[in-house]
Amino acid sequence: MAKLDERIGFIGGGNMAFAIGSGLVRCGIVKPSQVLASGPHIENLQRWRELGATTTDDNCEVLEHTDIVFICVKPHMLGPCTTQLKCKHVPSAKDANKLIVSVLAGTSLQTLEEKFDFMDNSGLKIIRTMPNTSMQVGEGCTVYTGNSRVTHHDLEKVHLMLNALGLAQQVPESMIDACTGVAGCGPAFVYTIIEALADGGVKQGVPRQMAIQFAAQTLLGAAKTVLLTGKHPAVLRDEVCSPGGATIVGVHELEKGNLRATLINAVEKSSQRSAELGKK
Ligand SMILES: NC(=O)c1ccc[n+]([C@@H]2O[C@H](COP(=O)([O-])OP(=O)(O)OC[C@H]3O[C@@H](n4cnc5c(N)ncnc54)[C@H](OP(=O)(O)O)[C@@H]3O)[C@@H](O)[C@H]2O)c1
Repeated sequence: MAKLDERIGFIGGGNMAFAIGSGLVRCGIVKPSQVLASGPHIENLQRWRELGATTTDDNCEVLEHTDIVFICVKPHMLGPCTTQLKCKHVPSAKDANKLIVSVLAGTSLQTLEEKFDFMDNSGLKIIRTMPNTSMQVGEGCTVYTGNSRVTHHDLEKVHLMLNALGLAQQVPESMIDACTGVAGCGPAFVYTIIEALADGGVKQGVPRQMAIQFAAQTLLGAAKTVLLTGKHPAVLRDEVCSPGGATIVGVHELEKGNLRATLINAVEKSSQRSAELGKK
């Protein structure tokens, strides 16, 4: 695995930040000593210290002392957070060497450029990403796009980090809110499906823990089959459905319950909500 020499910062040390930071350390791309995370409540950053990273309650320290700065606050906190940074930061030519990487839902590159205009923005490089929490187990799915100042080399570096934690794909910015609905929010939809599949098993007499394990493994196996065979999911489903068999009657129940339309609606609503969050 390639290694990075850069210092990696996280402004906002919550769930998404930790999924990325701990994942990068676990796969050896960076050493814990290269990682600096900040947040307003130092006591909430304990897991970063257990990882071996340095923590601070001063976001400015992260901006000043790291090279690749992940912005991981909630979208509505971006304004207060950058206002605070603006008070302390002294713009300099060194700003052009930094790479700002946002994970904020719905927040466009244009908004990010405006919020970071207190830096020497003649060369400020910003990458907008949409990751998901499955990065914590190395099976994330992240899309990303960069502003006009980002170089091919910057994109390669970010790709190296994100792709080490699952799948990473550069997409046009216009696609990011849609990808948020599918992949950013998707784990929550899939956890609901796993729970419901397990409930079905429990109803039929399978012990709870076993049912959850079987449901999760079944999703994992089906997902791997789609990715490794490259077959369309409908073709794979047909392969499971023997004529007059047990599966097709279950598939009929899913159709009666509108599972597919419900999932399409969920992705649509989440994509729309993602776009709204960035406008607030
Ligand atoms: N969770 C996901 O599945 C997911 C997926 C894709 C993208 N995202 C994006 O990731 C970002 C973070 O989401 P999350 O789920 O990780 O939320 P989270 O766990 O609540 O993390 C947010 C963190 O921001 C910190 N914070 C609050 N105000 C701050 C400030 N002024 N300066 C620095 N840090 C501050 C909070 O610290 P305290 O707790 O100490 O207040 C908290 O640790 C969001 O923008 C979201 O759109 C999340």
